[in-house]
Amino acid sequence: MIKPLLATACLILATLLALALWPTRTPPLQAPAELSSSHWRAQGQYLAVAGNCGGCHTAHGGQPFAGGLGLPTPIGTVYSTNITPNRQHGIGAYSLEDFNRALRHGIAADGHSLYPAMPYPSYAHLSDEDVIALYAYFMQGVAPVEQANRANDVPWPLSMRWPLAVWRKWFMTAD
Ligand code: HEC
Repeated sequence: MIKPLLATACLILATLLALALWPTRTPPLQAPAELSSSHWRAQGQYLAVAGNCGGCHTAHGGQPFAGGLGLPTPIGTVYSTNITPNRQHGIGAYSLEDFNRALRHGIAADGHSLYPAMPYPSYAHLSDEDVIALYAYFMQGVAPVEQANRANDVPWPLSMRWPLAVWRKWFMTAD
C-alpha cells in the first residue's frame, strides 16, 4: 500500500522539479540604437511613478530604490531588493534583457524566480517601449546606492525558490 503511494509522490515531485528547471524562453527585446536619450529617461521616470516602483523598493526613511522594505506575505516577510544601478548590490550589471526578464517574467538575472510580491504578472502587460524607458531611467536617472539586500524571512521549505518557477509557468500564460 505504502510503496505505490511513495512511487506516485516521487513521480509527481520529479515532474514538478523538471517543470521548474526547464528554462523559460522569453522573446528578446529590440534595443533602440540610442538608449541614453532624455526622451527615454523622462518616459521611464513617469512610468516608475505610475508603476509605484518606489513604493516597494524604498524603505521608510531609506534611499530611493535601495530596497529593504519588508512586505508581509502568508509565508513570511519578503524584502524588496536594491534596484539602483549599483553593480554589486543593485541592478547595475543588469542588461536590458535581464531587466525585461525580471520585470515581465519574474526571473532574476541569476535565473532564480521572483516571489510574486514583485507584481510581475501585472508588469507583464507593459509594452517593449515601456520596459526600455524604465531601463533607461533606472540605469541613468537613479543614483546608485551601496546597500546590500536583506535576506527574506521565509522559513524552509517555503524559502525554496523552485516551486515558484512552477507557479510562474502555471500562471504566466502568454497573452
Ligand atoms: C508591490 C511591491 C513591488 C512593486 C510595486 C515593485 N516591486 Fe520590484 N520587487 C519587489 C520585491 C519584493 C522584489 C524581490 C522579490 C524576491 O526576492 O523574490 C522585487 C524585485 C525586483 C527586481 C529584481 C531585482 C533583483 O534583485 O535581481 C527588479 C528588477 C524589480 N523588482 C524592478 C521593479 C520595477 C522597475 C518596478 C516598477 C515598475 C517594481 N519593481 C515594482 C516588490 C515590488
